[in-house]
Amino acid sequence: MTDARTGVLAGLKVVVSAGPTFEDIDPVRFIGNRSSGKMGFAVAAAAAERGADVQLVAGPVALPTPPGVQRIDVRSAAQMHEAVLAALPCDIYIGAAAVADYTPREVAPGKLKKQVGQDTLTLELVRTPDILAEVAAHAARPRLVVGFAAETDRVEHYARGKLAAKRVDLIAANRVGVPGSGFESDDNALTIYWDGGERALGPAPKGELARDLLDVVGRRLTGGAPGHG
Ligand code: PMT
Repeated sequence: MTDARTGVLAGLKVVVSAGPTFEDIDPVRFIGNRSSGKMGFAVAAAAAERGADVQLVAGPVALPTPPGVQRIDVRSAAQMHEAVLAALPCDIYIGAAAVADYTPREVAPGKLKKQVGQDTLTLELVRTPDILAEVAAHAARPRLVVGFAAETDRVEHYARGKLAAKRVDLIAANRVGVPGSGFESDDNALTIYWDGGERALGPAPKGELARDLLDVVGRRLTGGAPGHG
């Protein structure tokens, strides 16, 4: 067992976001994505196993709450933003949710109807708040802020860009759009990037990866090099 598994996280408050957000267009339609919540729920479960006080802010997913985890269900990016900020202060924030980057400017009060002779429909979308960047810049910044990056290509390039732009401590990057990793699958492969290093984890089941990710987090918290030990 590593140091992290024998108690670095015990008693710490860990906030995890997981799952997709659904951005309503009208009462029957929404914009969403393919996140199942499995990765974030696995991280929350692994943190609770290590004795952390875990709050899990969950988008709309069909998963049971891991034992010992306090769950807050939300639907939209705006609700996730509010719930995560309300959960501060905390020691560690891990943003595994696939938050919509854009949401419709207005939610139509009634079901949008097809118009005769109209072959296209244009929706006006506006940016959602960047929850991860806000947590990292918050006056009550957690000791460690961990983001995820879901990329189809140039994984390291985009992941390192997010590490710097969002000013987080670690970014766990995964490839999406290929079978056996990323969205929906039970397995995944992560590369953790930090300023000056990286560590590849997996491919492995998401539960195993979550525990390995927390080992890296634990080493970082105790001042060790995240890639060793
Ligand atoms: O849920 P699963 O089916 O198990 O799939 C797991 C996963 C692929 C969803 C997960 O491993 C993952 O990669 N989560 C992050 C997905 C994502 O939205 O990545 P991004 O590269 O678009 O966002 C980068 C980071 O910013 C993420 O930590 C995200 O939570 C955060 N973000 C993004 C937009 C926004 N408005 N607010 C945010 O906090």
